[in-house]
Amino acid sequence: MIDVSLSESVRLISPRVTVLINTLDENGELNSSPYSWVFPLGYNPPLIGVCIGGKNKLSYVNSKRTGEFVACVVSSNFGQQAVNCGQSHRSGDKLWEKNGLSLEKSVKVGTPRIKEAKAVLECEVFTVLEYGGPQLLVGKVVHAEAEEGGLDQINPLLHHTGEKFRTIGQEIILQRKK
Ligand SMILES: Cc1cc2nc3c(=O)[nH]c(=O)nc-3n(C[C@H](O)[C@H](O)[C@H](O)COP(=O)(O)O)c2cc1C
Repeated sequence: MIDVSLSESVRLISPRVTVLINTLDENGELNSSPYSWVFPLGYNPPLIGVCIGGKNKLSYVNSKRTGEFVACVVSSNFGQQAVNCGQSHRSGDKLWEKNGLSLEKSVKVGTPRIKEAKAVLECEVFTVLEYGGPQLLVGKVVHAEAEEGGLDQINPLLHHTGEKFRTIGQEIILQRKK
């Protein structure tokens, strides 16, 4: 084993699924940006957390204002397009459109989803935790859909760190004794 700096230690909990966080700006334009510090926080109610590093990030500003967001799981087949949406941008720049992604209506929230996504979680903002540094945007899932076939079909893009990504490996079944 080698020592890992404390600031780097949190990166040992990786890779994680990459999602596009969709939000609406004050003109009703869709903003869609990649996030991978995204975690399940509970089943009942179903909660997910998105760790947002900066109060000026549009995903944070928009979701706080509208009270909703959609987490669109990024599949490897549109991974580069999704990553390109993380480039610095302003409200209304529509990086999703410039990168060849398209929109589709959501079912339970007004914020549209990314049509290319094979799994989507429509969320209402449950709470926002500010603990110094980043903010945790907590969403309550109010509707979710996924392509049939599970992970092999979705083939989520896993983010390790920086420009390093992975795809999923083979499924293995391990017994969990009671
Ligand atoms: C794969 C990937 C994952 C990212 N994950 C996060 C994250 O979890 N939290 C974060 O604050 N920024 C993350 N970023 C950076 C944001 O995407 C970037 O700051 C973006 O411009 C924010 O957009 P917004 O202002 O529309 O929210 C990530 C970028 C990439 C490419």
